[in-house]
Amino acid sequence: MPDQSTHPATSAPRRILVTSALPYANGAIHLGHLVEYIQTDIWVRFQRSRSHQVVYVCADDTHGTPIMLRAEKEGITPEALIDRVWHEHTRDFSGFGVSFDHYYSTHSPENRELSERIYQGLKANGLIEIRRIEQMYDPVKEMFLPDRFIKGECPKCGAQDQYGDSCESCGATYGPTDLKNPRSVVSGSAPVRKESDHHFFKLSDPRCSSFLRQWAITDNRLQPEAANKLKEWLGDAESGSDEGGLSDWDISRDAPYFGFEIPSAPGKYFYVWLDAPIGYYASLKKYCADRGLSFDEFTAPESKVEQYHFIGKDILYFHTLFWPAMLKFSGFRTPTNVFAHGFLTVDGAKMSKSRGTFITAQSYLDQKLNPEWLRYYFAAKLNGTMEDLDLNLTDFIARINSDLVGKYVNIASRSAGFITKRFNGELDAAALVDQQHPMHQAIMKAAPEIASAYEGRDTARVVREATALMDLINGYVDSEKPWEIAKQAQDNPALMPRLHQVCTQALRAFSQLTILLGPILPMTAERVAREVFGLERPLAWSDLAQPPISRVAGFSHLMTRVDREGIDALIAANRESLG
Ligand code: 2FM
Ligand code: ZN
Repeated sequence: MPDQSTHPATSAPRRILVTSALPYANGAIHLGHLVEYIQTDIWVRFQRSRSHQVVYVCADDTHGTPIMLRAEKEGITPEALIDRVWHEHTRDFSGFGVSFDHYYSTHSPENRELSERIYQGLKANGLIEIRRIEQMYDPVKEMFLPDRFIKGECPKCGAQDQYGDSCESCGATYGPTDLKNPRSVVSGSAPVRKESDHHFFKLSDPRCSSFLRQWAITDNRLQPEAANKLKEWLGDAESGSDEGGLSDWDISRDAPYFGFEIPSAPGKYFYVWLDAPIGYYASLKKYCADRGLSFDEFTAPESKVEQYHFIGKDILYFHTLFWPAMLKFSGFRTPTNVFAHGFLTVDGAKMSKSRGTFITAQSYLDQKLNPEWLRYYFAAKLNGTMEDLDLNLTDFIARINSDLVGKYVNIASRSAGFITKRFNGELDAAALVDQQHPMHQAIMKAAPEIASAYEGRDTARVVREATALMDLINGYVDSEKPWEIAKQAQDNPALMPRLHQVCTQALRAFSQLTILLGPILPMTAERVAREVFGLERPLAWSDLAQPPISRVAGFSHLMTRVDREGIDALIAANRESLG
């Protein structure tokens, strides 16, 4: 198994299934979420631009106690809540240019069917066990309480109002039964201990650990930081001991619960985390059914389709242990790779509602800020590792204004006008095919480097290489001084061909940069193709050597500058609206 993160940038068409993590259906999309959707979308658009066949699916993660209780609080059904949130989420994603092929819901018939199928497959393999366990129960509300729905005093430091799993004051971790004076967040009553039967996925079975060792470690597919985590979770393989090895996973919850009832187990529901990743396949299944495609071609063990899951580092455990094992032992193919990213901070700190840095996608769009500014900034910060990334608002303003407006767009603004005014919009045909021009050669030399950086999700390097090209192209324009040639050409028409060549070279380079940055700036790339060059189709990677341009159709403002007031208003809007 090759390391897929450095997949050779081949030209043979690949078939690729891509997912981003499913957002919960009880909250707004915020900039922290967008890191992942933007990262995935850039990768997907890069693959599409290289003529690979990508199916990018996602869905809302709709089940579980928080969603059930949230709907109850709002006085609506869970179905009404998840329907409303689905519309909000899809609106936000489309606002940021996230190009899903299908965006579905885990509360779907396909997901129910696949969850049952996977559960039955695991059961048939002897990997499901029913065990009686004791948990905290709210006697007033008559429901079992997840750890986060129990609060009390920290058993270690005595801090008040701490959750049932960890103390925010001293950092201690413990179980909900350890809390002093515990109370249910739902009813305020004192929880009691109560027994019930739970269904477990036997991850401790040697078949699971041996498969996971192979998949996660021996095959050498994961990011180094992820592989280290996996080694820790799987125990020390070299010593042959399974100490610190995997525990069985509790995959059932008792009624009342919003989710899918387990077949032949009345009152027992699949835990939300069981059916959530299956939601990837449910979304794909619906996509395939709508288009008459074969779902099995993607998901059967012998599938030739690559399968990648983009996630945040906090859900690595679910995606590199539970999910591959679920698939393996229920008769499906396993993921080609899982790509984890770090968390977003804003101005060096955790996003905060009181500081106004818990910024929602909707508020960003409502303030009329350009979504491509954020796509570009995140791209400039993401390097394919699990490191956290910081949105520094001052740096954000400076970078957009200097790189995108001052360097990239500037190339076109400096040369397009001469072509429209002096040459009737026609580019110089000979200059367009000059393969020896040093600028063209520099771009063609950088292109494979940029492709391999995209492939490895090192978009920080893509941006560095692209800005170096912008500097080169602007340097060329600076040294050729088309504005002076134009002035002199008024007395000396023999200089006109030179003006034509210089502006054509700059604009060809601009079209090539647009191809290279297209996955990051899809909306601008689309406008450049249509409005600037009058093309009927978007530019693709295969156009790099010979962009199909021949004229300048027009030149409108491609991108405005960010101003501090707009950013301040964004922060204020999030401070006010979320308090
Ligand atoms: O952590 C979360 O936000 C989950 N809703 C992610 C689910 S990803 C997949 F497994 F469905
Ligand atoms: Zn404490």
